[in-house]
Amino acid sequence: MYNSKIIGLGHYVPDNVVTNDDLSKIMDTNDEWIQERTGIKERRWALENSEDTTSGMGIKAAKVAIERAGIDKDDIDFIVFATLSPDMYFPGPGVQVQHALDIKTVGALDVRNQCSGFIYAISVADQYIKTGMYKNILVIGSELHSHGLDKTTRGRGVSVIFGDGAGAAILTREEDNTKGILSTHLHSQGEHAEELVLVAPGMGKRWVNDILRDNDPNDESYFPYMNGQFVFKNAVVRFSEVIMEGLGKNNLGKEAIDMLIPHQANLRISQFIQKKFELSDDQVFNNIQKYGNTTAASIPIALTEAWEEGKIKEGDVVVLAAFGSGFTWGSVIIKW
Ligand code: UT7
Repeated sequence: MYNSKIIGLGHYVPDNVVTNDDLSKIMDTNDEWIQERTGIKERRWALENSEDTTSGMGIKAAKVAIERAGIDKDDIDFIVFATLSPDMYFPGPGVQVQHALDIKTVGALDVRNQCSGFIYAISVADQYIKTGMYKNILVIGSELHSHGLDKTTRGRGVSVIFGDGAGAAILTREEDNTKGILSTHLHSQGEHAEELVLVAPGMGKRWVNDILRDNDPNDESYFPYMNGQFVFKNAVVRFSEVIMEGLGKNNLGKEAIDMLIPHQANLRISQFIQKKFELSDDQVFNNIQKYGNTTAASIPIALTEAWEEGKIKEGDVVVLAAFGSGFTWGSVIIKW
């Protein structure tokens, strides 16, 4: 059995910055409410009809990760793409990456685990590398939220939170079992599936034909819904549990954490976890202030920025953790 390790990271965000004040011009909200409840100051929203699609942003992030990994695109054995906002209902964006990067006909897997998507994607890639089936895997998390949000006062509880962007990582084989990804931990609780949900279009409840037929201006089924307080309460519990689980599995205490990269759901959640694990400001990386919640892209964007800023060094224990729609949650423990 091998370990896997991250050897290249990249991210991409659209140029278009949308501040809280910009939002207050199109809906009844304000900078004070958004900053106080979420920590967000601004987010990137791709311009309509730009190249910044979910696959397009993912491809840009992937190119950076591949270059930094120092491998050739033809060394990539498998692609894993996490998103809740694919360009097309099917096929998922994994195959678009294979085509755009002109990679040979390797497998491309799409992961549908929302905010935990990148954690799930890393876990999948890690298993393939552990068994020796693949050596180099491209893992991408990318989201284009802005085109699908309800940007009226009706949708303000959700739409002010989400932003667009992408991050990517190259995982490769590590022969030393004390290094790289030490363990991954995944969970789900489907009884809460509809507490953070996008119902339509879905074959189960509201398909595109139904929406067009009814043409109901009050139809909210094709906008994301979130029971914010309920999600928040579950998030702080599950984040803590799954970080503890990962540390415990590796016989590590909380003092072993050199860098925690939490999914950027809400700065208040990150601060709660920071306090609970008694971490200093430089042991937790947050960039939700600049980007909002970019769902499957948030951890790879944050990981890339932390690495670029020199905040992750060889030998560090790096913990990734996420919680979100499903509910699904998970963690990854890395010895960098
Ligand atoms: O990434 C996946 C996981 N996601 C999360 O973990 C998110 C978890 N939840 C949260 O982060 C928070 O619940 C939110 C930031 C979404 C909301 O904060 P909250 O403190 O739970 O606010 P609330 O939903 O209870 O709303 C409080 C008030 C309401 O008004 P009333 O009923 O008290 O008069 C809302 O209508 O704030 C109002 N409100 C807003 N006001 C100004 C809701 N959204 C806005 C807004 N601007 N954008």
